[in-house]
Amino acid sequence: MSDAIEAHMDETRRVAPPAEFAKHARIHDRSLHDEAEADFTGFWMKRALEEITWTKEPTVSLNDANPPFYKWFEDGELNLTYNCLDRHVEAGGGDKVAYTWIGEPGDERVITYRELLADVERAANALKDLGVGKGDRVAIYLGMVPELPISMLACARIGAIHSVVFGGFAASALADRIQDASCKLVITGDGAWRRGQIIPLKDIVDEAVAMCPTIENVLVVRRTEQDVAWTDNDIWWHDALAAAAPNCPPEPMNAEDVLFMLYTSGTTAKPKGIVHTSGGYLLGAILSHQWVFDIRPDDVYWCTADCGWVTGHTYVVYGPLANHTTGIIYEGTPAHPTWERHWEIVHKHKVTIYYTAPTAIRALIKAGPEAVEKYDVSSLRLLGTVGEPINPEAWIWYHEHVGGERCPIVDTWWQTETGSIVLSPLPGLSTTKPGSAIGPLPGMKPVIVDEQGAEVATGDGGYLTLQRPWPSMLRTIWGDDQRFVDTYWNRFGNTVYFTGDGARTDHDGDIWLLGRVDDVINVAGHRISTTEIESSLVGHPAVAEAAAIGAEDPIKGEMIAAFVILRDGIDQSEELRADLAGHVATDIGKFAKPSLLLFAPDLPKTRSGKIMRRLLKNIAEGKELGDATTLRDPAIIQTIKADADRQMGR
Ligand code: PRX
Repeated sequence: MSDAIEAHMDETRRVAPPAEFAKHARIHDRSLHDEAEADFTGFWMKRALEEITWTKEPTVSLNDANPPFYKWFEDGELNLTYNCLDRHVEAGGGDKVAYTWIGEPGDERVITYRELLADVERAANALKDLGVGKGDRVAIYLGMVPELPISMLACARIGAIHSVVFGGFAASALADRIQDASCKLVITGDGAWRRGQIIPLKDIVDEAVAMCPTIENVLVVRRTEQDVAWTDNDIWWHDALAAAAPNCPPEPMNAEDVLFMLYTSGTTAKPKGIVHTSGGYLLGAILSHQWVFDIRPDDVYWCTADCGWVTGHTYVVYGPLANHTTGIIYEGTPAHPTWERHWEIVHKHKVTIYYTAPTAIRALIKAGPEAVEKYDVSSLRLLGTVGEPINPEAWIWYHEHVGGERCPIVDTWWQTETGSIVLSPLPGLSTTKPGSAIGPLPGMKPVIVDEQGAEVATGDGGYLTLQRPWPSMLRTIWGDDQRFVDTYWNRFGNTVYFTGDGARTDHDGDIWLLGRVDDVINVAGHRISTTEIESSLVGHPAVAEAAAIGAEDPIKGEMIAAFVILRDGIDQSEELRADLAGHVATDIGKFAKPSLLLFAPDLPKTRSGKIMRRLLKNIAEGKELGDATTLRDPAIIQTIKADADRQMGR
């Protein structure tokens, strides 16, 4: 656990829900929680019928006959896009803005629900024209342009399964994901704007597709006017849409048909394709979005996440659209062209709800309060964070400088696997504490347990588990049911979901997340496995052995530190150091590039041969090394430590 969080838990500040906010909030008592506790399957069923427009209403809520392979609403039929688009247009809400999209260079596009539906229908027909049908897998590798949600929805319209791969992944990581799912089509762009530069998406896709025989076509969105290499299998998005028929009826899908898969890092080098299905996922997205963000019809809601991650799926696309919300999408990063960009957008578009990652907040703090003070951000009424623990200092700054001490903050804990938010304050109900995700949403049952699976006492740290199935839960890992069982359901029995996170409750019963307890690290809210980095490094011809760890970083939460043993006869050099870090960036993506790369004559191991990761972490963080008496060769440490301190300017 971070020392800051530990120290903070006892004498923390409490912020009660602002009276003005609570007065109008959707939820201001615990009746939903109570109803769910009394009968959770009945609770979800009732809401499934109220919130979702089904083509065939389900008659069963949960099927738990074969845990952990749970099914929800299994005899129901629906289409997600009908729920996100058509029903609003049919009800007279077609002119409401679905998205105001802002390009990094400053261009804008306002898209109403009616226009979004028209684009989705054409795009869906374009996919059909390319031979894509129900159950086929489509990889989407784009920047944050409107065509990204449109592509996701076009797949959902016809029952194709989307697999969005974040545009920061490198060609070989993209290829791995395409191959694992045997995708038929890739949707990409000629390029993507990022920090004033163009990422050559099409070149990266070409390199990946050369390794992927299942890909039949590449559909290319024009965005940056880059010249791109072209083959007979490449089709411009605008040409395909122009040639496609305008109307595409929504394909009725069984509630348990797969909607999408999204790859995430686990403890091995091979990423896992997390599978989400249609009915339960949509219900989780709709309700959590309403409850946590207290959505009202006139909100201007901005979730800053990229659709390459789960937050973009649930809280940029499916939840907000199904709730008929007006959203903002910004193509670029908060740093470009200056750190004022986000505040300028909040001011100009009168954003009311702003949901971002602690890393972004810490970086915005660094830019100084002047950056936000220059703009009128008084339209904001609610703030949120997601993706990593927020340190109390950042929380308080957010509360004071952005929220004007008027906006509740929702610190939302969840995972790619959970599909939607699991733990969060409810803004009109919960007394918040900087750094705590407070407690479960209605229907969820978090239990913090010890190594044996017994619930720990208040104040004790343990493993966070979820002990009751929920509609938006993952259904499996693509193509690997056994890995699904082994990863999440083996540790404490097949009805207890193991999250991989540590947590603790305080004396009020509020939950504090303590970080991952496995080999997954969280860099700037991006989940990366240390094994993935190690296997990339040992793939370099100069490397004999490697260890990667997460070390504290003031902005990114964690940074990657890699320790490398070179092969015999290879000499250390600064060029090689840069080359090795660059190798990881080319293999996985720039966000996985080690911030600190150290040459080690040997890795510190215990006498029984285990790498001493704790010691490596202390070296990377410049901390006291503590007891090293169990080491095979204590002298090694001093050499590595001296190099670390030099690299980090200590
Ligand atoms: O360790 C937790 C951390 O992010 C992990 C999930 O990562 P991912 O699947 O990429 O989804 C991120 C967005 C939902 C979790 O296992 N995490 C996420 N939210 C929080 C968090 N840690 C602390 N506090 C949070 N609010």
